[in-house]
Amino acid sequence: MSLISNSIKKAVALLDQDQVIGIPTETVYGLAGNIHSPDAIHRIFSIKQRPLFNPLIIHIKSVDDLNEIARDIPNKALLLAAAFWPGPLTLVLKKQATILDLVTGGKDTVAVRVPNHPLILELLGQLSYPLAAPSANPFGCISPTEAAHVANYFKEVLPMVLDGGVCSRGIESTIIGFENEEPVLYRHGSLATEDIEAIVGPLKIITNNNTAPVAPGMLSRHYAPVTNTVLSTDIIEMLKTISNTKIGVLVFQNEINDTKIKGQEVLSPAGSLEEAASQLYAALHRLDKGNYDLIIVERFPDVGLGKTINDRLQRATKK
Ligand code: TXA
Ligand code: MG
Repeated sequence: MSLISNSIKKAVALLDQDQVIGIPTETVYGLAGNIHSPDAIHRIFSIKQRPLFNPLIIHIKSVDDLNEIARDIPNKALLLAAAFWPGPLTLVLKKQATILDLVTGGKDTVAVRVPNHPLILELLGQLSYPLAAPSANPFGCISPTEAAHVANYFKEVLPMVLDGGVCSRGIESTIIGFENEEPVLYRHGSLATEDIEAIVGPLKIITNNNTAPVAPGMLSRHYAPVTNTVLSTDIIEMLKTISNTKIGVLVFQNEINDTKIKGQEVLSPAGSLEEAASQLYAALHRLDKGNYDLIIVERFPDVGLGKTINDRLQRATKK
C-alpha cells in the first residue's frame, strides 16, 4: 500500500501544508496535524468522524516545551513528567491562551504528552510546532497498533501513514488530570496505576462516568470489534451453553481445547501482562477479520496492566 512510507521528509512536507497523516507512537498510531492550524485540526475531526467536543492530545518533543502548552502546572505533574516522559502518560493541565479551542473542545484544560518512539521524536524535532493526534481509528472502533491497521481504516482519505512498525506498548496512554493539585485518573492506559502511585501517592479514580465523560475514551462502548463480542470469567462453562456457532476466543495465558473454538488468540503464554497488553488490539483486529459469529474474551487478573486490559475488554463488549 503506497500510502505507508518511512520518509520523515515527506511527513514534514505534508504537515507543513496543513495535511493530516498517520504517525506511530509507542502506544497506538495517531492521526496527526499542526496544533496551530485550524484546517488541520478540522481535518482530523472529520477524518475520524469524531464529535468536536471530544478534545485531542498534544504531542511535544520534550518537557522543555510544556510551558508553551500549559500554565499553573502542579508540582505533582512535573514529578510525573520527570518520571515517565517520554512515555505513555498524558497530563491534563490548564491550557495556555495560544492553544486553539478546537484542539481542547472548548475546555480550559489541555491534554499533553511526550511520546516515546524514535520516528515521532525525530519528526517533532524537525517541525516548528507540536502535533495534535487522537488515536487513528474511526470513533468507537479498535485502535491501530500497526501502519496497516491505519491504512485499512483510512486508505481513501489519508495521504500518508508514517511506518514505525508495531507499537511496543499497544494500548493508549494513561491519562491523569488534577483537582486542587492532586492527581486524578481519567483513563486507564499503558502505564500501570501502581507505577504512578509510587511517585505521587494514591490516585482518585474517575473513569466510569457514562453520562458526561471527562475523557470520552471513557464512553462505555468503545474500542469495539464489529463482530458480536462477549466477556467471560469462565469460557469453558460458557462454551457448554453455545452450539452451532463459529467461535473465536481471546485468552491471557492458557489455550483452551474445545472443538467449538475455530480460532484462538493467546496473548502471553508466559503470563506477562505487559506482553498481553501489547498484543491485545492486534489480536482483536485479527479476530474481527476472522468471520466468527461470536468472539469470547477472557477477563484478566485485576492488577497492574490487567486493570487496563479489563477496562478495554469491558468497553469492547458493552452492548
Ligand atoms: O496513547 C495515546 O494517548 C494516543 C496516542 C496517539 O498518543 N492518543 C489517544 O488519543 O489515545 P485519543 O484522542 O484517542 O484519546 C484522547 C483522550 C480522549 O478520551 C479525550 O477525551 C481525552 O484524551 N482528553 C483530551 N483532552 C482532554 C481534556 N482537556 N480533558 C479531559 N480529557 C481530555
Ligand atoms: Mg482513541
